[in-house]
Amino acid sequence: MLRPRGSKKAAQFTESVIREMTRLAHQHGAVNLSQGFPDFPAPEAVKEAACAAIRADINQYAVTWGARPLREAIAAQFTARHRVPVDADAQVTVCCGATETMMAVLLASVDPGDEVIVFEPFYENYGPDAIVSGAVPRYVTLQEPDWTFDPDELAAAFNDRTRAIIVNTPNNPTGKVFSRAELETIAALCRRWDAIAITDEVYEHIVYDDARHVALMTLDGMAERTVAINSMSKTFSVTGWRVGWAVGPPALAAGVRKVHDFLTVGAPAPLQQAAAFALDLPDTYFSELAAHYQVRRDRVIAMLERAGLRCAVPAGAYYVMTDITGLGWTDDVAFVQHLIEDIGVAAVPGSSFYRPAATHAVSGGLGRVRFCFCKKEETLAEAERRLARLTPR
Ligand SMILES: Cc1ncc(COP(=O)(O)O)c(C=O)c1O
Repeated sequence: MLRPRGSKKAAQFTESVIREMTRLAHQHGAVNLSQGFPDFPAPEAVKEAACAAIRADINQYAVTWGARPLREAIAAQFTARHRVPVDADAQVTVCCGATETMMAVLLASVDPGDEVIVFEPFYENYGPDAIVSGAVPRYVTLQEPDWTFDPDELAAAFNDRTRAIIVNTPNNPTGKVFSRAELETIAALCRRWDAIAITDEVYEHIVYDDARHVALMTLDGMAERTVAINSMSKTFSVTGWRVGWAVGPPALAAGVRKVHDFLTVGAPAPLQQAAAFALDLPDTYFSELAAHYQVRRDRVIAMLERAGLRCAVPAGAYYVMTDITGLGWTDDVAFVQHLIEDIGVAAVPGSSFYRPAATHAVSGGLGRVRFCFCKKEETLAEAERRLARLTPR
């Protein structure tokens, strides 16, 4: 019998562990603190803008690289926030979420065999993204407790084959917000090795305490070699809308636009109109978003620490990496299985943010589990009740 063969590329990565955890949470009726999507409503005015756009019959393909009102809103917001001029006609590409944007940027800027530097632990999409685009990922460790990197290790990762570095700040899964000094180190190496920076800034508005988001593109000489990726998903609590974008120098944007056109033609047209409206919300919307998550962060950290899980306090984004070794566990996957099936709470095994677990120690994922806290108070309260049943092994 004919046995169809999948591609060698697809064989190199597994299904998403994060999304698999959501499936298991449903199957076992667990409170889902795994995948990073809010379970509370999206802002009423933003939903209204989407409904109005559908009723106004903005229901056909938008311009492939993005509807003009949205591209203009993206350019205006970027310039207002970061003081970098952006040409909406030449530099902005709207895609289906940051996810498609990252894939389109890599496909458009990397050749097979080029190296792409990725900080580890990493958002799990970057590995498959690199493989699909033919790149060879090179990993640089973010070291606990503050998830900083060793400048010498980073410098050693750059070489003649380095095409790009992916920088996710604020960071998933660690909650790290890269400091200006750290970004300066990265920028200097990009300039020295003529590499580009691809920044994933989907959590840019979710920062805590005195942390400040710095866009790498604002540093000296970086506007011409940085592609900044962002999205509606996290800022407006609409992860299902699939609207994201890239801002980059015209020469790179031209390639991204072509790749994006043939991947998806375009992001949902009426939701692009709503995105343009949303980006224009008053500043208070964005500051309240961060304040709202800071309350949840503090609540969840207290809850997890009470349950015996030591937390690395995040400075941004809405995740917390916890240490399960205090409870006697050194196998993150077995712990999460116990958590989902016996305790009734879903989280994500730490090893899914590292290269294959076999190469790693307990500090490299096996002893870590990520919880997200973008959830309603009732959801967190139910998780807390259930976590009270967690006992040391
Ligand atoms: C760092 C990071 N980038 C990108 C995404 C995906 O964003 P989008 O929904 O816009 O595709 C996520 C979602 O969890 C994320 O954490």
